[in-house]
Amino acid sequence: MASYLQIADDEKGHELDLFCVPRHYENDLDKVIIPHGLIMDRTERLARDIIRDMGGHHIVALCVLKGGYKFFADLLDYIKVLNQNSDKSVPLTVDFIRVKSYCNDQSTNSVKVIGGDELSNLSGKNVLIVEDIVETGRTMQTLLSLLSECNPKMVKVVRAFVSNILCFLSMCNSSLLVKRTPRSSGYRPDYIGFEVPDSFLVGYALDYNEYFRDLSHICILNDQAKEKYKV
Ligand code: IMP
Ligand code: MG
Repeated sequence: MASYLQIADDEKGHELDLFCVPRHYENDLDKVIIPHGLIMDRTERLARDIIRDMGGHHIVALCVLKGGYKFFADLLDYIKVLNQNSDKSVPLTVDFIRVKSYCNDQSTNSVKVIGGDELSNLSGKNVLIVEDIVETGRTMQTLLSLLSECNPKMVKVVRAFVSNILCFLSMCNSSLLVKRTPRSSGYRPDYIGFEVPDSFLVGYALDYNEYFRDLSHICILNDQAKEKYKV
């Protein structure tokens, strides 16, 4: 089982006044729940774990846009540092895919893939999928079955994922956050940064209708803001 840093359900978080938050969001947030520095420290360790497990082979890091872009960039920077400073190093290439499943703070039941590179390029590669947050697990499961269509060799691995058996070759998945929620399908990524309570979180590229990606810390959105930015 992947280890993670647990943020408890009764975690009170930190007052906004203790951190720098953009003025335009000051009235929209309840608390800072994961400060940017802690995200970076945990990401550094995930990079080390990933290199330990996948480091023998060329890695294709696949970023799930848009929410995954900050975690992806920072995780890859840490992997680059490891590559630069040890005797062993692995080539790292990047790819991007865009998926959309959310409207306001609700998961719509459809997961749309709207853009990205030709997935067949990933055929036969060691793919590390990097995303922001797993809630029901539906986005990830849709993506994994799509990827498996490109390369029948991967199908076995995908099933191994869904039944939660760790598999370090061919395809791995790393998510910064996993939400503790009764809506979960049981899907767990191979690498997890934090397990978080069942609230709607924004910041560090996680959005509410495209807002709050330009916020460094992960914060809890207040009810007023849910109305203010509703579509
Ligand atoms: P799932 O398909 O239910 O696992 O949802 C995963 C996707 O929903 C993520 O990639 C996010 O884009 C979005 N999402 C889920 N929970 C949150 C949240 O608390 N804040 C922002 N986006 C979220
Ligand atoms: Mg999103």
